[in-house]
Parts: sequence; structure tokens; C-alpha cells
Amino acid sequence: MEKLLSAGDMTPEAVEEIFQRAKTFKEKGIPKKYDSEWVLMFLEPSTRTRLSFEKALRRLGIETYLFTSEGSSMKKGETLRDTVLTLHAQGFEGVVIRTPLNGQFKEIEDIPVKVVNAGDGTNEHPTQALIDAFTLKEVFGDLKDLKVVYIGDTRFSRVFRSGLKLFKMLGAKVGIAGPRSLKLSHAEALGVDRDFESVDEALEWCDVAIFLRIQKERQSRPLITSERDYLKYFGLTKERANFLRQKGKYYMHPGPVNRNVEIASPEVYGKNSLILRQVENGVFVRAGVIDFLYQG
Ligand code: NCD
Repeated sequence: MEKLLSAGDMTPEAVEEIFQRAKTFKEKGIPKKYDSEWVLMFLEPSTRTRLSFEKALRRLGIETYLFTSEGSSMKKGETLRDTVLTLHAQGFEGVVIRTPLNGQFKEIEDIPVKVVNAGDGTNEHPTQALIDAFTLKEVFGDLKDLKVVYIGDTRFSRVFRSGLKLFKMLGAKVGIAGPRSLKLSHAEALGVDRDFESVDEALEWCDVAIFLRIQKERQSRPLITSERDYLKYFGLTKERANFLRQKGKYYMHPGPVNRNVEIASPEVYGKNSLILRQVENGVFVRAGVIDFLYQG
């Protein structure tokens, strides 16, 4: 495999290989293995995704070059295809790409460079799904029949779209809950096992709840009436967090968190929050993905 563009590009065996590598890297460190150069092309803001890819690549011995749309010829209208052909001609072996546009990777499918999708519009974010699944495997041991519920903006979330594919592939059950205006429509046709009317019902059902940021930047008009009401009706309040803890359930968020919107501020890193564990695992899982692209 040369490119990881969608969670659907992987087989369960490939996922297992990536997880094995990530686990070894976490236990024993990430060895310098490759003498190569990659570009980090971030055409949208990022903190943890960019830094974890950068750290993973550097630990593997790979030099990284940061590319943002500001100050690049993409500002002058150069296409992604021409940009990636240029990077290939300069001898770069791989590119990590984050773009605001859905499905833009079609343009570069045939270019012989390694590519990892770090988020394309509302479409996919496969490495975040891998991080979330790896983290849950650490906590629960096995993902088979694990009940995962995504709460909030499943309509515009690429984290959810990749997560749904990956969790289903690994035998987990996936539910969704949230305001109707932000909920994926035809969810069951897309493989969602349970579409909950109320967040409390969803929390009752799940083993783990993944809260999602409201993707305001992808919505042409406001889709919720008030952020304060959002927390009360759809967010992780203190009461809901206590409920999860009492039942031995966990909660996650891919970040960045809107405090007091998706999660009440004191609960962000509260007991049974796996948010910082997701961040910690980001480096190892992404190193696992890159190593797999070299050898898998
Ligand atoms: C996510 C993203 O960019 O899709 N963040 C991340 O990579 N951890 C989620 C988000 O922005 O809400």
C-alpha cells in the first residue's frame, strides 16, 4: 500500500499490522529507519495532527518540509496535481495532506508518491480513526462488539466518516446521537447500527462516547440555536460524565474541544476521559502508518 486515503483502503490485517507497529513503537521507541524526505502539506489549520505526523516522520529518520497554502503557488491557482508532481520531481518520497476539499485525492491517485490523508473536507480522516480504535483496543483489549457512539456533528465530521468504516470493519457497533440539524441522514443505510433520539439513551447503550466538534467552518449557516443549550441537551455535562464513570464507560474527543459546548470544561480531562491518551497515541499510530506504507 502506497497511499492511505480512506479507512476503507485498509483490510483488517493491514490495521492489525499498523497497530502492532504502533504498540512496539510505544513500548520500545521509534527507531530511525528511513533516509528520506516528506512534505507536510497543510491547507487547513492543525495542531495535534500536524505535530504528530511531523514528530512521527522525524523519529523514523525522515526529514520534513512544511507546506501551507499561504505563500505557495497554490495561492496563484496551481492545482493539487501539479503541486504534487512538482514535489515528486524534487525527490520527495511522501506527502501528508490536509485539504478543505472533499475527494481531492482523485487528482493524484496515479502519482508514485506515498500519501497520507490528514483530513479532506468532510470526507475522511483515516489516521484519526486508527488512533481512536488503537486507544480503545488498549483500554478494552478487543473491539469486537464494542459499542461506540459518536455524539454531535456526524453530518460534517470526517473523523466520524472514517471511524464508522474502521469500527465496522473491526467488528464494533456504531451509534450516533445529536441535534437533528447536525446528524447524518440515512445513517442506517451507511452502516450505523443505532440512531438515537436522545444523548442519554445513547450513553446508556454505549461502552464509549466520542464527542465531535461542531464543524462551523463547513456550514454555510448556523445550525444550532445556542451553544449553552447545546451542552445541556447534547454535550457532556458533569451529570453525564458522572454517569459514564459510574458505569465504567469512557469518553473521547478528537480535538480541538470547544469547552462548555461539546464537553463541560472541568470534564475535558476528567476521570475516564481518553482525550490525552488519543493525543499521546497519535505519534505512535502515525509512525505505524508511515512504516507500514514502506513495508506493507
Ligand atoms: C479533527 C479534524 O481536523 O478533522 N481534528 C483532528 O484532526 N484531531 C476534528 C475537528 O477539527 O473537529
